[in-house]
Amino acid sequence: MAIRAIRKYPDPVLRKKAAPVKVFDRSLRELVDDMVETMYAEPGVGLAAPQIGVSLRLFVIDITVGEKPDALIVLANPKIIAATGRVVEEEGCLSVPGIRTQIPRADVVEVQGWTLDQQEVTLKGRGYLARAFQHEIDHLDGLLVWDRMSKIQREILKSEWKRYQRETIKG
Ligand code: NI
Repeated sequence: MAIRAIRKYPDPVLRKKAAPVKVFDRSLRELVDDMVETMYAEPGVGLAAPQIGVSLRLFVIDITVGEKPDALIVLANPKIIAATGRVVEEEGCLSVPGIRTQIPRADVVEVQGWTLDQQEVTLKGRGYLARAFQHEIDHLDGLLVWDRMSKIQREILKSEWKRYQRETIKG
C-alpha cells in the first residue's frame, strides 16, 4: 500500500470523463488499497480514482474516516438511480484545497454499482453520505464543486481560491 499524491485543480485529469472499470483483478485491489490509504492520510471522507491520476469510474468513501471499519464503501462504475429532496450544505474537496462552500445536493440518493468481488449492489445514502456519493460521482464525470454553483458564486469562489494559492506559496 502507498499514499499517492492528490491531483489538484487545474490538473486536466480532473476534467476528464473517467472510463468504466472492466477488469476486476489484483491490480484494481491494489489501486483501491492505495486510494483508501490516501483518503485516510489526508484525511478525507471520499476519494475518486481520477484524484490520484487514474481515470477510472471508481471511488472510496468512509464518512467516519476510519472510525468504523464497516463504514468503508468501495464502488466501481457507480450510477445514481434515484435522487430525492434538496439540501444546501458546506462541502470541500481534496483537489480544490482551501475552499469550503455551500452546495445544493439531493438529500437521498440510491447508487448502483459493483463491488470488487463483482457483485452488483444498490446502496442508499441520506444526508452526508448522499452528498459524498454525489460529490465522488461528479469527479468521475470531470465535475468539481464549483460546477454545482451559480456563475456569480463560482467567480467569487475562484478568486478566493487564487488568493489562497498565493498565500500558500508565500508561506
Ligand atoms: Ni472532491
